[in-house]
Amino acid sequence: MALREILHYPESLLKQKSLPVTEFNEELKQLADDMVETMYAAPGVGLAAPQVGILQRLIVLDCSGSNEPNDLLIAVNPEIVSGDGDSLEEEGCLSVPGYWASVKRSATATMRYQNIDGVVHQREADGLLAVGMQHEIDHLEGVLFVDRLSPLKRSMFRKKYLKMLKEKELENASS
Ligand code: CO
Repeated sequence: MALREILHYPESLLKQKSLPVTEFNEELKQLADDMVETMYAAPGVGLAAPQVGILQRLIVLDCSGSNEPNDLLIAVNPEIVSGDGDSLEEEGCLSVPGYWASVKRSATATMRYQNIDGVVHQREADGLLAVGMQHEIDHLEGVLFVDRLSPLKRSMFRKKYLKMLKEKELENASS
């Protein structure tokens, strides 16, 4: 297993749509293993393949709140097949470090996906896991949580975040 580099906003690859996985081979298992390790090391509760530069429909999630496998979900070609209710929870993203904002989502979600061997499964969730599923599947469509903010909040985010990036760059340049 190896840690992979996590791409950060405004990297353009994060805006691209990922392709369906068609081959359930060793390479896919390796990628999933690396993503799991990278997620726990960050630490984070979810990671999608495009965040490590691979445009394939694969996500990993563990919303149990521990930094070791507890409720690990590896989902290939995941889709939300039903959802209900409204939730407004604060979200963050490993690709947008240092920024959190409340996002409107379905309160419950049922995700259909294939496991690492290609077998179809379904998982029903509420709370953090339901939000996590929707957040990670968004990544496969090239959508970040900040894209779901109101236009005003989004433009405030952009200004604040790009300013923060610039300050970090200056800091690095002077040290
Ligand atoms: Co994210």
